[in-house]
Amino acid sequence: MRLFDSHAHYYDDAFDPDRAEVLSSLPAHGVTGVVCPGCDLESSRQSLALAEQYPFLYFAAGLHPENLEGATLADLEEVKALCGHPKCVAVGEIGLDYYWVKTPEDRANSRDFFAAQLDLARELDLPAIVHDRDAHKDTLDIVRAHPGTRGVFHCCALSAEDAKVVDKLGWYVSFTGNVTFKNARRALEVMAYMPLERIMIETDAPYMAPEPFRGKRNDSNYVYRVAETLAQIKGLSTEEVAEATYQNALRFFDLKPLFQ
Ligand code: NI
Repeated sequence: MRLFDSHAHYYDDAFDPDRAEVLSSLPAHGVTGVVCPGCDLESSRQSLALAEQYPFLYFAAGLHPENLEGATLADLEEVKALCGHPKCVAVGEIGLDYYWVKTPEDRANSRDFFAAQLDLARELDLPAIVHDRDAHKDTLDIVRAHPGTRGVFHCCALSAEDAKVVDKLGWYVSFTGNVTFKNARRALEVMAYMPLERIMIETDAPYMAPEPFRGKRNDSNYVYRVAETLAQIKGLSTEEVAEATYQNALRFFDLKPLFQ
């Protein structure tokens, strides 16, 4: 069985004590592909450095809505430069977060950055990795205002209604360890609704460790738990779902030529 973790933040401080050990352990556990998205310029640079070190690790560059303090749209020139690296597979993570971003001014600013980074993704012909927390309507409005972009709603928290819109747009969704939690009903509905060809799995490490590891530091070795839940919902074996989501990630991030 091979697994592709489409979203894990390996530059995070939580991995400082043993980053090399964790990353080196992944291929032997079947995790043969990982995408590490940055959240600001510094973490995007760190993600690039990790991608240069580990053959199975790819990265994305972008400015996350929670990390916009002091950022200017001119910073997107450096995001663009980072995206020119051969192992950069997406613009991300970008999006809207109305849980942490509260004031109307800050929210408007985050919408400007999101829109500008979707423009950049389209210009570079890269997919976008989208974070959407408590901002479904505005996120979807901005995505719809950018026809010709491709992307994924990561750590998918969409309603079944919004998932229909995302499905029609041809975008992907990606699920994390929180689908194993007791209150995951809504995510499981979306899992059931979305066609398997457009679903990826992820850890969002170091966050979102699945049951029975909830509350611990997460890493890509636990991504199989998301595959197990998806397999249950789709009535397939874990192996089938692991392979399908693996192929989806290769297609979404355009890695096919490298893995054949
Ligand atoms: Ni993330």
